Amino acid sequence: MTDTKISRIGVFTSGGDAPGMNAAIRAVVRASIFYQKEVFGIVHGYEGMIEGEIVKLGARSVGNILQRGGTVLKSARSDNFRTKEGRAKAYETLKKHGIDGVVGIGGDGTFMGMHLFHEEFGIPYVCIPGTIDNDIAGTDYTIGFDTATNTAVEAIDRIRDTALSHNRLFFIEVMGRHSGYIALNSGIAGGAVSIIIPEQNTTFEQLYTLLEQSGKTSKSSSLIVVAEGSKIGGANELAKMVAERSNYFDIKVTILGHLQRGGAPTYFDRVLASRMGVSAVEGLLRGESDSMVGISNNKIIFNAYASIMNGQYHEIDEELLRLAKILSI
Ligand code: F6P
Repeated sequence: MTDTKISRIGVFTSGGDAPGMNAAIRAVVRASIFYQKEVFGIVHGYEGMIEGEIVKLGARSVGNILQRGGTVLKSARSDNFRTKEGRAKAYETLKKHGIDGVVGIGGDGTFMGMHLFHEEFGIPYVCIPGTIDNDIAGTDYTIGFDTATNTAVEAIDRIRDTALSHNRLFFIEVMGRHSGYIALNSGIAGGAVSIIIPEQNTTFEQLYTLLEQSGKTSKSSSLIVVAEGSKIGGANELAKMVAERSNYFDIKVTILGHLQRGGAPTYFDRVLASRMGVSAVEGLLRGESDSMVGISNNKIIFNAYASIMNGQYHEIDEELLRLAKILSI
């Protein structure tokens, strides 16, 4: 590997935590040490970078975290880093500790922040996509999506038991911000009669017609999975709209919320995070910068900031949409 002059690597997590972030931190730390670099944890994301919350990490300080949800480095959404003064302070912190390369783990906000920082101060960096939303272009999967979706499926299965016992209609709302990835995949895996996602223009009339039809085909219960970013309303609003139209349905609502963010990462997220963590360090040491590591067709790739952060998001697979429709009859 062509080695750059980088000798001290800083690693941080930022934005919403995601299961598998700890596995990524562990991989970054151990790969750095493997390549004889010093490695520092920046605690509380960009806030810690500004406030100087820096800890030296060793191979043993990341022991026993691979299997844990959350992030041992803590996370934050930082307004201060959005200001020029905040970023200048963060640069002083890195300089003081001699940190000359950074790995940031988080979503698109994390990537945008590092890009700006790199433009202003020239610090080389690689980002690792860590968010349950799976909304980032340039990677088939983000760390945490698989675990969060499995958690949602488990919850949907449980709700199905009680829905069936009472012949009820359930609206189940899942996370994802503006993305329907969790909803579409957990909806298919959980056998939802309808899946409402922001990427598709489902109207309330279409949803209501489908519910009437499933009533006629004597379905004993119906589960509707709604992405929180749904354009026609969240689970509460949709339930209210159906109840206002007809009293035929016995309706309940469950909002899964932050439950989806916690828990032990699946094997998939642990391996993905480990691969991305090691690759991010290797990339950085090879001279890769202003880029994000990703996975495409099970191969590690690097995406330059400008190639993926231009207003595009990870597109929904049309094939899955077609499948969901066929399977819900
Ligand atoms: O980006 C991850 C995510 O969990 C989204 O799915 C959700 O909209 C958001 O974070 C919630 O953020 P917070 O934890 O700050 O309320």
